[in-house]
Amino acid sequence: MIWRRPQFRFVAVVGLVLAGAGAWVVAQGQPAPPVAPAAVSKNAALQPLIETQPGPELALLMGTLQTLTHKLALSADAGNAPLAAFYLHESMEQLRTIQREAPEYENLPIAVLVERLALPAYSGLKTATAAQPPAEPLASREVLLAGIDRVVQACNECHAATQHGFIRITRGTEINPFNQSFQRP
Ligand code: HEC
Repeated sequence: MIWRRPQFRFVAVVGLVLAGAGAWVVAQGQPAPPVAPAAVSKNAALQPLIETQPGPELALLMGTLQTLTHKLALSADAGNAPLAAFYLHESMEQLRTIQREAPEYENLPIAVLVERLALPAYSGLKTATAAQPPAEPLASREVLLAGIDRVVQACNECHAATQHGFIRITRGTEINPFNQSFQRP
């Protein structure tokens, strides 16, 4: 039998040892070398993906303010003072968020303009929605809408003051695009 021959046994043992060593070398080469984070960030092509703009995007904060303003206007148009009071409160919070998160934007003094231009424009609506029935009657649709017009005017004044006069806000009360009723229940 061939495996009983000493020469063959020697060749077989050496072959097995060499095969084992080869497998070990191949296995050592298998794992992908870990990529150092520094090497990734030095890759110029990846820079824009990794390094985001400092601070939040003002347009996104404005988009939320727009939705709140639109719902505020739809509430006013429905003569719904309690709902208008809710969106007035939310609008105030969003304006404060804008002041805090984007006090300056492309060298424009956003926080200062919000303070001087936007916040005073809400005073009429604040008074109108502060009425406490039954002692005081709820504000009428006309009074609420007059308050809305003052707010919308302030939005557009600030857009003009910040070289964004092409963004023109309206009441937007002709149609209700939301899956929400603004009528008083
Ligand atoms: C402090 C000044 C200022 C006030 C006040 C202001 N805006 Fe803006 N608004 C801006 C600037 C500046 C931009 C452009 C932001 C940018 O370039 O990313 C903008 C952008 C927008 C946009 C475009 C973003 C989008 O989602 O389409 C909308 C809509 C908008 N504002 C709505 C309003 C509404 C509604 C009000 C009033 C309730 C308002 N803004 C009040 C300064 C103002």
